[in-house]
Amino acid sequence: MALRNILTKEQPLLYKKSRTVTDFNPRLHQLLDDMRETLLSANGVGLAAPQVGVLRRAVLVIETNVPEGEEEYVIELINPEIVETSGEQDGAEGCLSVPGEYGLVKRPMTVKVRAQDRYGKPFEVEGTGLTARCFCHEIDHLEGIVFTSKADRMLTEEEMRAAVEEE
Ligand code: NI
Repeated sequence: MALRNILTKEQPLLYKKSRTVTDFNPRLHQLLDDMRETLLSANGVGLAAPQVGVLRRAVLVIETNVPEGEEEYVIELINPEIVETSGEQDGAEGCLSVPGEYGLVKRPMTVKVRAQDRYGKPFEVEGTGLTARCFCHEIDHLEGIVFTSKADRMLTEEEMRAAVEEE
C-alpha cells in the first residue's frame, strides 16, 4: 500500500466526470488499498478516486454510525448510484480537497446506495446522518462536483472556531 497525494480545489481534474469501472482487477484493488491508507492517514470520513487523480467511479466512506464498542469500518463503493433518499439534514460539511474550509450543505437524512464491491458483485447499503451526507458528497465528486458549489454559504472563521471548541 502507498499513500497518494490528495488533489486540492485548484486542480482542474477535480471538476471532471469520472468513468465507470469495468475491470475489477488487481489495479483497482491497489487503488482502493492506497485510497484506504490515504483516507485513514488524513483522518477523513470519505474519499473519492478523482481526489487522488484517478477519474474512475470508486469511493470510500467510513461508517461511523456503529453500536458502542464496535469498530468503524470502511465501505468501498464501485460505480455507486443513489437509489432512494428520505428526510433532510442541514449542517456543516468539509472535504480533504478543501482543507480548513467548511460550508452549510443540505443533504437527505437517509440515503440508499446501489454499488458494486471490488470484485464486481452488486450490493445495496443504507446510511443515515453523517454517513448519508458522506455518500452524497463522495458521489458528487464522481460528477466533478465539489461541495463548495452546493453550500448555501461557507462558515466564517469565528463559526469554525466555535464549532471546534464545542467538540
Ligand atoms: Ni470531498
